[in-house]
Amino acid sequence: MKIKKFKICIVGTGYVGLVSGTCFAEIGHNVICVDNNKEKIKMLQMGSSPIYEPGLEKMILKNKRAGKLSFTTDIAQAVKKSDIVFIAVHTPTKENGETNLQYVENVSKEVAKAMDKYKVIVSKSTMPVKTGQRIKEIIAKFCPRNITFDIVSNPEFLKEGTAIKDFLEPDRIVIGIENKKAEAIMRNLYEPIKAPIIFTDIESAEIIKHACNAFLATKISFINAIANICEKNNANVQEVAMAMGLDKRIGPDFLKAGIGFGGSCFPKDVSAFINVAKKSGYDFNLLKEVKKINKKQREIFLDKIIKNVPDIKGKSIAIWGLSFKPDTDDMREAPSVDIINGLIAKGAIIKSFDPVAIEKAKVIFKDKIIYCEGAKEALKDCDALIILTEWEHFKKIKLEEIKKLMKFPIIFDGRNIFSPQKMIKAGFNYYSIGRKT
Ligand code: UGA
Repeated sequence: MKIKKFKICIVGTGYVGLVSGTCFAEIGHNVICVDNNKEKIKMLQMGSSPIYEPGLEKMILKNKRAGKLSFTTDIAQAVKKSDIVFIAVHTPTKENGETNLQYVENVSKEVAKAMDKYKVIVSKSTMPVKTGQRIKEIIAKFCPRNITFDIVSNPEFLKEGTAIKDFLEPDRIVIGIENKKAEAIMRNLYEPIKAPIIFTDIESAEIIKHACNAFLATKISFINAIANICEKNNANVQEVAMAMGLDKRIGPDFLKAGIGFGGSCFPKDVSAFINVAKKSGYDFNLLKEVKKINKKQREIFLDKIIKNVPDIKGKSIAIWGLSFKPDTDDMREAPSVDIINGLIAKGAIIKSFDPVAIEKAKVIFKDKIIYCEGAKEALKDCDALIILTEWEHFKKIKLEEIKKLMKFPIIFDGRNIFSPQKMIKAGFNYYSIGRKT
């Protein structure tokens, strides 16, 4: 079957925009990615990715060379050349939990002014319910009078670290539409991707995205609460989670206990959804508790370290992992930030290592901590090791080697990457999450 090719413009080259744009080019469409950050666009024009995402840079280069993917700061030109315009700019949360829609609104205005024929305007970033209507009002107000358009909500579900696979092989595609014309266009656009497409009204599509992230965050806080109960009763949270997950109604994913969720999505979206609920006249206490448990989980871990490393002031502490999860250099809302700041406040000397996040960590910690070039270098003569991100690389380092390098063999494993039995046998004082020590 011949695939219909579209001319697409994606405004915003963050994770969602850049990965979506590159993947749309990969499946055959012609894509222009737009950003007002000149440095970023320059980097992309030269074929390098401003974010670390496995496989992305290679895919950018390939599609750029094939003439299917280009980058510009000129939004008006990009919009004019396109049939479909995606809005993928960031939607940060304000202090009061409300979503800051300033970027979405500005972009909508600029898109509207550049409209020269019928286009479909699609919101791709996570946006609170009713943002689609707001975009529609702005476009209608600022676009030339004789031009028609449709708005669509098409939330993205990709995860950092596995973003390309998540985009190209999604569990489902959610599309909120207002009429059959937009439905047909969106169906054709996604034709090469083999996944069920769920068409809904725009408001439902917007709520689906928030509900998914809020539910996943709830699963994580739930298992972290269970981990705390396990710890107090000499039980093992991994065994509990495994058995829970085998119940098909619960499922095994997102039941890994640890030091809580971070990143640019869950913390922001949980707060935003609490706010959406409040504005709708509903007090979402359950989600407020999810947030509290998440914050507390970092504090509990920090207390455990402080309690078990006597006289921590002046002690040398090795940190493995800084990014909020493996396979990304993203430090946004990373648990490592609170935990390391807590240790610094107690006077500990921090020797950190992360396979890719060091540069981004330097912006946050500056010269308050030491940055090492390897995991073993960080361990040399340290008084304790703290694992904050479960990079595969750490799991492969031999226990004897770890022990030999450390001054004292104490490990605080915030991600449960080792087996407690093995660690005790190897002579470590090993503390993990929700398991016997
Ligand atoms: C999340 C969602 O999983 C995506 O579906 C969504 O598209 C994305 O947000 C978004 O809204 O853009 P992401 O933030 O990349 O993706 O990362 P996740 O893999 O979901 O992990 C989030 C956090 O939860 C990490 O800090 C991770 O360590 C933690 N986590 C995850 C746990 O503590 N336990 C688990 O079992 C799973």
